[in-house]
Amino acid sequence: MLAYRHAFHAGNHADVLKHLVLTQVLRYMVGKDKPFRYIDTHAGAGGYLLKGAQAQKTAEYREGINQLWSRPDLPPALADFVQLVQTFNLQPDENGVTPQLEKGMTPPLALYPGSPSIARLLMPRGSAMRLFELHPSDARTLAAHFGGERQVQVLNEDGFAGLKGQLPPTPRRAVTLMDPSYELVADYGKVIASMREAVARFAEGVYMVWYPQVSRVEAAQLPKRLMALAPKGWLHVRMTVSQPDERGFGLTGSGMFIINPPYTLHQTLAAELPFLVDALAQFDGASYLIEEQPA
Ligand SMILES: C[S@@+](CC[C@H](N)C(=O)[O-])C[C@H]1O[C@@H](n2cnc3c(N)ncnc32)[C@H](O)[C@@H]1O
Repeated sequence: MLAYRHAFHAGNHADVLKHLVLTQVLRYMVGKDKPFRYIDTHAGAGGYLLKGAQAQKTAEYREGINQLWSRPDLPPALADFVQLVQTFNLQPDENGVTPQLEKGMTPPLALYPGSPSIARLLMPRGSAMRLFELHPSDARTLAAHFGGERQVQVLNEDGFAGLKGQLPPTPRRAVTLMDPSYELVADYGKVIASMREAVARFAEGVYMVWYPQVSRVEAAQLPKRLMALAPKGWLHVRMTVSQPDERGFGLTGSGMFIINPPYTLHQTLAAELPFLVDALAQFDGASYLIEEQPA
């Protein structure tokens, strides 16, 4: 039985880091002008109401996307990401067409896009997507978001097990996001097993793995274990924004591990992370790390 629902956490600091990286990776891939497949092994519901009961319960977005929403001084990649979220907040007109975001206009922050919606905003219409989501009601909501799009498959299945069946793709270009909840400690081992198989089948794919910074040895070890799977190059970015609570618990930050990253990613993140850490810091020791082994 799955208890985790991403609606409680949508737009928090971890989503901001993850979706900043996702945006940059997809922009690079789209810029190459060759079709590719987007695979999301843990896709969530696709979009979240920030004024809804679940998001309001913990209101994590207030320490995340809300801190960037109306800032006029965002560096370019963060400005690009926030503008995507602003576009998602524009309601489609009676013909289903989303209006253009006018320069200088900031809509109220009411909605937060999940990773599949960010991919959809960035990729050309008709791009192939494979979206795994195990929770039945989130899978239904996700399917409603993408209803009728022929190239998009919403799979109410286990994304760890399902990834290998998508690889190698045709044509041989794909970006995969693996973003589990780590609700079960077994998820750490499943990430490694699933990634090992994915890289063995399709070594040239781009793979992004999100992980939480929590006091668990499995979380601390995950980046090192992923490094061992990525012979062709990797990038690891981690952002710490808060301290553990008095019992030593809490999500103090998060990381993204990217196998076969775009060569531009390191430089972009190095330019953006100082601003982001400063904007989202909840204590004086907030920090970030970027390390890379180029191809
Ligand atoms: C962190 S959320 C995903 C958020 C989403 N990727 C985003 O960025 O908007 C993790 C999701 O994985 C789902 N899930 C849990 N175990 C799964 C599994 N084995 N396969 C696919 N989905 C799973 C959960 O129901 C939850 O919606």
